Amino acid sequence: MTAIGKHLSFWMTVLALTAFGLTAPAQAQDKTFTLTAPDALVDSGLLKFILPRFSLKTQTRITLAEPGAAADAQFGSIGMVAFQGLDTVWKFDPGDDPDAQRFADWLRSDVGRNTVDSYQVDGAQLFTSQVEVKKVVVEITYDGDALRGEEASLSHCGRCHVVNDKNRMNSIGSTPSFAVLRTLRDWEDRFQAFYVLNPHPAFTQITDVTEPFDATRPSPIAAVEMTLDDLENIMAFVQGIPPADLGRPVQSMQD
Ligand code: HEC
Repeated sequence: MTAIGKHLSFWMTVLALTAFGLTAPAQAQDKTFTLTAPDALVDSGLLKFILPRFSLKTQTRITLAEPGAAADAQFGSIGMVAFQGLDTVWKFDPGDDPDAQRFADWLRSDVGRNTVDSYQVDGAQLFTSQVEVKKVVVEITYDGDALRGEEASLSHCGRCHVVNDKNRMNSIGSTPSFAVLRTLRDWEDRFQAFYVLNPHPAFTQITDVTEPFDATRPSPIAAVEMTLDDLENIMAFVQGIPPADLGRPVQSMQD
């Protein structure tokens, strides 16, 4: 063999080894995971488009199992947000398989996103990696006047509830204080609808909202008569009440 021939055959061998992934670290052969996806996603053709591209890049063998079969990873409604299309936000759950996790990373990488975005059927893009994640608005503010809300709370609710320090002494002990009610996750729902929650309907009238008391069942006690504006003010006031420190993580009465 000539010197050139020797060199050539050496490089051919390197190329061949590289092509078969043999020069990669030892665990390379293990790069494989099984995957399930709902029929709609399989039928869309997207997976046939993106999986080979990822496999080629990373030498990972992905086996698509029947929908519903046990698999390392799955597309569906749980996991990380992967992409959007066919009126669905598709999520990917890589489980704890490291190769599937690498695929998850790839899906959110620029290359992965571009691959998803470039899949077309009859010239139309079916999926987008730009998933709108709706911001959860946590901050709620009530337009009401908190000071008036305090007055209304003391005069309308204070005979039963401890509203704040100003009526701590003359409320009914078994009735939850506003500070305790304020710890409830759904305090807003409860306050906004207090007049339909027992025991209030029996004695509460909200102008233009509640039906007049049944003539045969008049309010057993001095009625609470107020307007929705009063309630709006009460909401503004209650919002500013520091939740009672119950000495443990905030609990809901329903938990
Ligand atoms: C006559 C007494 C009385 C008055 C007046 C009263 N409440 Fe109550 N309220 C109660 C009692 C008793 C409970 C506890 C009911 C229970 O635990 O089932 C309660 C519970 C509540 C709850 C929690 C309801 C639930 O089911 O989660 C809210 C909110 C509430 N009151 C708001 C108000 C507001 C606002 C006012 C004033 C506008 C008011 N209450 C006036 C007696 C009263």
